[in-house]
Amino acid sequence: MGRSPFADRPSVLMCPPEYYGIEYEINPWMDRRRPADHHRAVQQWERLRELISDAGAEVYLMDPVPGLPDLVFTANAGLVFQDQVVLSNFRYRQRQRERPYQKQWFVQHGFRTLDLPEQFHFEGAGDALFCGETLFGGYRIRSHAAGHQWIGQRFGCQVIPVELVNPFYYHLDTCFCPLAPGVAMYFPGAFDQYGLRALEAHVEQLIPVSVEEARAFACNAVVIGRRVITNTGCPRLHRQLRRLGFEPVETPLGEFVKAGGSAKCLTLRLDGEEAAGWKHAPDAQTEPSHPE
Ligand code: ARG
Repeated sequence: MGRSPFADRPSVLMCPPEYYGIEYEINPWMDRRRPADHHRAVQQWERLRELISDAGAEVYLMDPVPGLPDLVFTANAGLVFQDQVVLSNFRYRQRQRERPYQKQWFVQHGFRTLDLPEQFHFEGAGDALFCGETLFGGYRIRSHAAGHQWIGQRFGCQVIPVELVNPFYYHLDTCFCPLAPGVAMYFPGAFDQYGLRALEAHVEQLIPVSVEEARAFACNAVVIGRRVITNTGCPRLHRQLRRLGFEPVETPLGEFVKAGGSAKCLTLRLDGEEAAGWKHAPDAQTEPSHPE
């Protein structure tokens, strides 16, 4: 296994929302009678992209494709680990056509792509998140638990499967967000007792998010070092994050919430480990050190 071709600095994959829209309904947030406003979606996406660059990450773009409105959600393109990517096996046929475009992007950019056995549904970094060296795998609504186990064996990492029991939080990244090794925020209402116990046992510091803020996609944050970028509408979480030494930033993403997505879903980390991996992790407890 080699390093990610993007290992030198925080790098993020995004896809412009040119053909984004609410064209089908595959999660409870989507309603074709509530279409996305194209102009506003473009503005919101551009602003998110700026904030990600401001946070010090390089943004790479994948070409949008007509007829694939959810291709903007690059978190679902696959799971990146060093120079390998496990491609997604989407549950719904509406999204299955994204895969060849995602595969092509990864191959052209120097990754080795891995195919999961076809019978396992898997939706990439939407359902598989590293917190430190442990991979947390959300299953039942979109991904199969067996797929996460297959990945754990392939990569030689510990996998903690957590069942998602609330249809509004259908991907793990809608209700769980690693912030640093041993630190994550989560929405307890998205898990059952087993899942909650597993999270408590494997994450030292768990920051609970309220129902109101979870509904505003508070857990769907882009984390780059100390910077935590979320949708608007999560002031309590932001206060808490500031107390812990993070730098929360909000930006409106309502047009994407209509599809069941927000900041994190619109991005995929390419530098080999997830945001809370072992390389770019901030120390949540201390202030940055000054040279003098
Ligand atoms: N409409 C998309 C779907 O239901 C939204 C995907 C959001 N992505 C995510 N990583 N949570 O598949």
